[in-house]
Amino acid sequence: MRPKLVVGNWKMNGSLAANADLLAGIVAGLGNAKAACAVCAPAPYLFQCQQLLAGTPVAWGAQDVSEHASGAYTGEASAAMLADFACRYVIVGHSERRAYHGESNELVARKTVAALKAGLTPIVCVGETLGQREAGQTAAVVGAQLAAVLELLDAAQAKGIVVAYEPVWAIGTGKTATPDMAQEVHAQLRAQLKERIGGAAEEINILYGGSMKPDNAADLMSRQDIDGGLIGGASLKAADFLAIIKAA
Ligand code: G3P
Repeated sequence: MRPKLVVGNWKMNGSLAANADLLAGIVAGLGNAKAACAVCAPAPYLFQCQQLLAGTPVAWGAQDVSEHASGAYTGEASAAMLADFACRYVIVGHSERRAYHGESNELVARKTVAALKAGLTPIVCVGETLGQREAGQTAAVVGAQLAAVLELLDAAQAKGIVVAYEPVWAIGTGKTATPDMAQEVHAQLRAQLKERIGGAAEEINILYGGSMKPDNAADLMSRQDIDGGLIGGASLKAADFLAIIKAA
Protein backbone atom coordinates (compact mmCIF):
# COMPACT_ATOMS: atom_id res chain seq x y z
CA MET A 1 0.00 0.00 0.00
CA ARG A 2 1.35 3.39 -0.98
CA PRO A 3 1.11 5.94 1.83
CA LYS A 4 -1.29 8.69 0.80
CA LEU A 5 -0.17 12.28 0.31
CA VAL A 6 -2.34 15.39 0.53
CA VAL A 7 -0.83 18.69 -0.65
CA GLY A 8 -2.40 22.13 -0.42
CA ASN A 9 -1.72 24.48 -3.31
CA TRP A 10 -2.44 27.92 -1.91
CA LYS A 11 -1.95 29.55 -5.33
CA MET A 12 -1.65 33.36 -4.96
CA ASN A 13 -3.49 33.57 -1.65
CA GLY A 14 -2.46 34.38 1.89
CA SER A 15 -0.83 36.94 4.13
CA LEU A 16 1.47 36.64 7.11
CA ALA A 17 -1.48 36.85 9.47
CA ALA A 18 -3.80 34.53 7.55
CA ASN A 19 -1.05 31.95 6.99
CA ALA A 20 -0.17 31.91 10.67
CA ASP A 21 -3.79 31.13 11.57
CA LEU A 22 -4.16 28.53 8.85
CA LEU A 23 -0.93 26.71 9.71
CA ALA A 24 -1.64 26.76 13.43
CA GLY A 25 -5.09 25.29 12.73
CA ILE A 26 -3.67 22.54 10.54
CA VAL A 27 -0.95 21.57 12.98
CA ALA A 28 -3.31 21.61 15.95
CA GLY A 29 -5.95 19.52 14.19
CA LEU A 30 -3.79 16.87 12.55
CA GLY A 31 -3.98 14.39 15.40
CA ASN A 32 -2.71 11.01 14.27
CA ALA A 33 -3.72 11.36 10.62
CA LYS A 34 -2.09 8.63 8.58
CA ALA A 35 -1.60 10.52 5.33
CA ALA A 36 1.47 12.63 4.72
CA CYS A 37 0.67 16.28 4.08
CA ALA A 38 2.25 19.47 2.85
CA VAL A 39 1.38 23.02 1.85
CA CYS A 40 2.76 24.77 -1.24
CA ALA A 41 2.90 28.47 -0.44
CA PRO A 42 3.70 31.56 -2.51
CA ALA A 43 7.48 32.09 -2.52
CA PRO A 44 7.51 35.10 -0.14
CA TYR A 45 5.97 32.91 2.57
CA LEU A 46 8.33 29.95 2.41
CA PHE A 47 10.44 31.34 5.24
CA GLN A 48 7.31 31.68 7.36
CA CYS A 49 6.35 28.08 6.56
CA GLN A 50 9.82 26.93 7.58
CA GLN A 51 9.58 28.83 10.85
CA LEU A 52 6.09 27.61 11.73
CA LEU A 53 6.23 24.04 10.40
CA ALA A 54 9.76 22.80 11.16
CA GLY A 55 9.44 19.90 13.58
CA THR A 56 5.76 19.30 12.74
CA PRO A 57 4.41 16.54 10.45
CA VAL A 58 3.44 19.17 7.85
CA ALA A 59 5.97 19.61 5.04
CA TRP A 60 6.08 22.66 2.77
CA GLY A 61 6.98 23.50 -0.76
CA ALA A 62 6.79 26.01 -3.58
CA GLN A 63 4.48 26.38 -6.56
CA ASP A 64 7.06 26.84 -9.29
CA VAL A 65 10.82 26.79 -9.85
CA SER A 66 13.25 28.09 -12.43
CA GLU A 67 14.87 25.68 -14.85
CA HIS A 68 18.11 27.65 -14.32
CA ALA A 69 20.58 27.30 -11.45
CA SER A 70 21.39 31.01 -11.01
CA GLY A 71 22.07 34.20 -12.92
CA ALA A 72 20.24 36.93 -14.81
CA TYR A 73 16.68 35.58 -14.63
CA THR A 74 14.71 38.40 -13.03
CA GLY A 75 11.80 37.23 -10.97
CA GLU A 76 12.77 33.58 -10.89
CA ALA A 77 13.66 31.41 -7.89
CA SER A 78 16.06 28.50 -8.26
CA ALA A 79 15.64 25.03 -6.85
CA ALA A 80 18.65 25.61 -4.58
CA MET A 81 16.91 28.68 -3.13
CA LEU A 82 13.82 26.61 -2.38
CA ALA A 83 16.04 23.97 -0.77
CA ASP A 84 17.59 26.75 1.33
CA PHE A 85 14.19 27.17 2.95
CA ALA A 86 13.92 23.41 3.49
CA CYS A 87 11.16 22.93 0.93
CA ARG A 88 10.44 19.25 0.36
CA TYR A 89 8.17 19.73 -2.65
CA VAL A 90 7.74 21.98 -5.64
CA ILE A 91 4.79 21.95 -8.03
CA VAL A 92 5.85 22.00 -11.69
CA GLY A 93 3.68 22.35 -14.76
CA HIS A 94 0.50 23.45 -13.03
CA SER A 95 -2.10 24.15 -15.71
CA GLU A 96 -2.24 27.80 -14.61
CA ARG A 97 1.49 28.11 -15.42
CA ARG A 98 1.01 26.29 -18.69
CA ALA A 99 -1.96 28.51 -19.64
CA TYR A 100 -0.89 31.95 -18.35
CA HIS A 101 2.88 31.67 -18.67
CA GLY A 102 3.14 29.56 -21.79
CA GLU A 103 4.99 26.70 -20.13
CA SER A 104 5.59 23.88 -22.60
CA ASN A 105 5.94 20.19 -21.83
CA GLU A 106 9.66 20.54 -22.44
CA LEU A 107 10.09 23.47 -20.02
CA VAL A 108 8.14 21.56 -17.38
CA ALA A 109 10.51 18.65 -17.92
CA ARG A 110 13.57 20.87 -17.45
CA LYS A 111 12.09 22.34 -14.26
CA THR A 112 11.51 18.80 -13.00
CA VAL A 113 15.19 18.01 -13.55
CA ALA A 114 16.26 21.21 -11.76
CA ALA A 115 14.09 20.32 -8.76
CA LEU A 116 15.41 16.77 -8.53
CA LYS A 117 19.02 17.94 -8.76
CA ALA A 118 18.46 20.17 -5.70
CA GLY A 119 16.96 17.29 -3.73
CA LEU A 120 13.35 18.50 -4.00
CA THR A 121 10.40 16.28 -4.86
CA PRO A 122 8.69 17.72 -7.95
CA ILE A 123 4.92 17.35 -8.14
CA VAL A 124 4.47 17.12 -11.90
CA CYS A 125 1.01 18.27 -12.99
CA VAL A 126 -0.72 16.93 -16.06
CA GLY A 127 -4.28 17.36 -17.28
CA GLU A 128 -6.51 17.96 -20.25
CA THR A 129 -8.79 20.90 -21.05
CA LEU A 130 -12.52 20.44 -21.51
CA GLY A 131 -12.15 20.72 -25.27
CA GLN A 132 -9.47 18.05 -25.29
CA ARG A 133 -11.61 15.70 -23.18
CA GLU A 134 -14.62 16.23 -25.42
CA ALA A 135 -12.47 15.55 -28.45
CA GLY A 136 -11.35 12.22 -26.94
CA GLN A 137 -7.77 13.44 -26.52
CA THR A 138 -7.34 12.99 -22.76
CA ALA A 139 -5.09 9.93 -22.93
CA ALA A 140 -2.91 11.44 -25.64
CA VAL A 141 -2.56 14.83 -23.89
CA VAL A 142 -1.65 13.59 -20.42
CA GLY A 143 0.48 10.85 -21.96
CA ALA A 144 2.52 13.42 -23.89
CA GLN A 145 2.86 15.67 -20.83
CA LEU A 146 4.28 12.83 -18.72
CA ALA A 147 6.38 11.42 -21.57
CA ALA A 148 8.19 14.75 -22.02
CA VAL A 149 9.21 14.66 -18.36
CA LEU A 150 10.22 10.99 -18.33
CA GLU A 151 12.34 11.54 -21.41
CA LEU A 152 14.73 13.81 -19.48
CA LEU A 153 14.99 11.65 -16.36
CA ASP A 154 17.12 8.61 -15.69
CA ALA A 155 15.39 5.76 -13.88
CA ALA A 156 16.62 6.84 -10.44
CA GLN A 157 15.31 10.37 -11.00
CA ALA A 158 11.98 9.11 -12.33
CA LYS A 159 11.45 7.24 -9.07
CA GLY A 160 11.67 10.54 -7.20
CA ILE A 161 8.69 12.36 -8.70
CA VAL A 162 5.09 12.74 -7.63
CA VAL A 163 2.51 13.06 -10.41
CA ALA A 164 -0.70 15.06 -10.11
CA TYR A 165 -3.59 14.54 -12.51
CA GLU A 166 -5.54 17.78 -12.63
CA PRO A 167 -8.20 17.96 -15.34
CA VAL A 168 -8.22 21.66 -16.23
CA TRP A 169 -12.02 21.77 -16.44
CA ALA A 170 -12.27 20.62 -12.81
CA ILE A 171 -9.94 23.24 -11.31
CA GLY A 172 -11.73 25.82 -9.21
CA THR A 173 -15.01 25.07 -10.98
CA GLY A 174 -16.71 22.84 -8.45
CA LYS A 175 -16.87 20.17 -11.19
CA THR A 176 -14.94 17.10 -10.08
CA ALA A 177 -13.92 14.19 -12.24
CA THR A 178 -15.88 11.16 -11.07
CA PRO A 179 -13.78 8.58 -9.26
CA ASP A 180 -14.10 6.33 -12.33
CA MET A 181 -12.92 9.05 -14.71
CA ALA A 182 -9.98 9.92 -12.50
CA GLN A 183 -9.03 6.29 -11.85
CA GLU A 184 -8.95 5.59 -15.58
CA VAL A 185 -6.38 8.34 -16.16
CA HIS A 186 -4.38 7.46 -13.04
CA ALA A 187 -4.13 3.84 -14.19
CA GLN A 188 -2.88 5.03 -17.56
CA LEU A 189 -0.25 7.22 -15.90
CA ARG A 190 0.85 4.33 -13.66
CA ALA A 191 1.19 2.07 -16.70
CA GLN A 192 3.32 4.70 -18.41
CA LEU A 193 5.54 4.98 -15.34
CA LYS A 194 5.80 1.18 -15.25
CA GLU A 195 7.10 1.09 -18.79
CA ARG A 196 9.89 3.42 -17.73
CA ILE A 197 10.81 2.20 -14.22
CA GLY A 198 9.10 -1.17 -13.83
CA GLY A 199 7.76 -2.22 -10.44
CA ALA A 200 9.01 0.97 -8.78
CA ALA A 201 6.04 2.69 -10.41
CA GLU A 202 3.93 1.12 -7.67
CA GLU A 203 5.71 3.37 -5.17
CA ILE A 204 4.96 6.63 -6.96
CA ASN A 205 2.21 8.84 -5.59
CA ILE A 206 -0.27 9.91 -8.26
CA LEU A 207 -2.46 12.66 -6.80
CA TYR A 208 -5.81 13.90 -8.06
CA GLY A 209 -6.52 17.63 -8.16
CA GLY A 210 -9.58 19.57 -9.24
CA SER A 211 -12.34 20.59 -6.82
CA MET A 212 -11.41 17.92 -4.29
CA LYS A 213 -13.44 18.72 -1.16
CA PRO A 214 -14.23 17.03 2.14
CA ASP A 215 -17.37 15.46 0.68
CA ASN A 216 -15.78 13.80 -2.36
CA ALA A 217 -12.24 13.14 -1.11
CA ALA A 218 -12.78 9.72 0.46
CA ASP A 219 -14.50 8.35 -2.63
CA LEU A 220 -11.79 9.59 -4.97
CA MET A 221 -8.94 8.39 -2.79
CA SER A 222 -10.47 4.96 -2.30
CA ARG A 223 -9.62 4.11 -5.91
CA GLN A 224 -6.64 1.91 -6.56
CA ASP A 225 -4.39 4.43 -8.28
CA ILE A 226 -5.52 7.65 -6.58
CA ASP A 227 -2.89 8.16 -3.92
CA GLY A 228 -3.90 11.51 -2.50
CA GLY A 229 -4.86 14.98 -3.54
CA LEU A 230 -3.53 18.32 -4.71
CA ILE A 231 -5.99 20.71 -3.16
CA GLY A 232 -6.62 24.32 -4.16
CA GLY A 233 -9.55 26.18 -2.65
CA ALA A 234 -10.24 23.69 0.12
CA SER A 235 -6.65 23.92 1.38
CA LEU A 236 -7.24 27.53 2.48
CA LYS A 237 -9.55 26.51 5.34
CA ALA A 238 -7.95 24.43 8.07
CA ALA A 239 -11.14 22.46 8.75
CA ASP A 240 -11.62 21.50 5.09
CA PHE A 241 -7.96 20.67 4.52
CA LEU A 242 -7.87 18.55 7.67
CA ALA A 243 -11.05 16.73 6.65
CA ILE A 244 -9.43 15.79 3.33
CA ILE A 245 -6.21 14.65 5.02
CA LYS A 246 -8.26 12.48 7.35
CA ALA A 247 -10.30 11.06 4.47
CA ALA A 248 -7.10 9.85 2.80
O1 G3P B 1 -3.37 22.54 -7.72
C1 G3P B 1 -4.64 22.44 -7.17
C2 G3P B 1 -5.72 22.77 -8.07
O2 G3P B 1 -5.44 23.35 -9.26
C3 G3P B 1 -7.10 22.43 -7.76
O3 G3P B 1 -7.72 23.59 -7.36
O4 G3P B 1 -9.44 24.87 -6.19
O5 G3P B 1 -10.09 23.07 -7.79
O6 G3P B 1 -9.09 22.45 -5.61
P1 G3P B 1 -9.18 23.50 -6.71
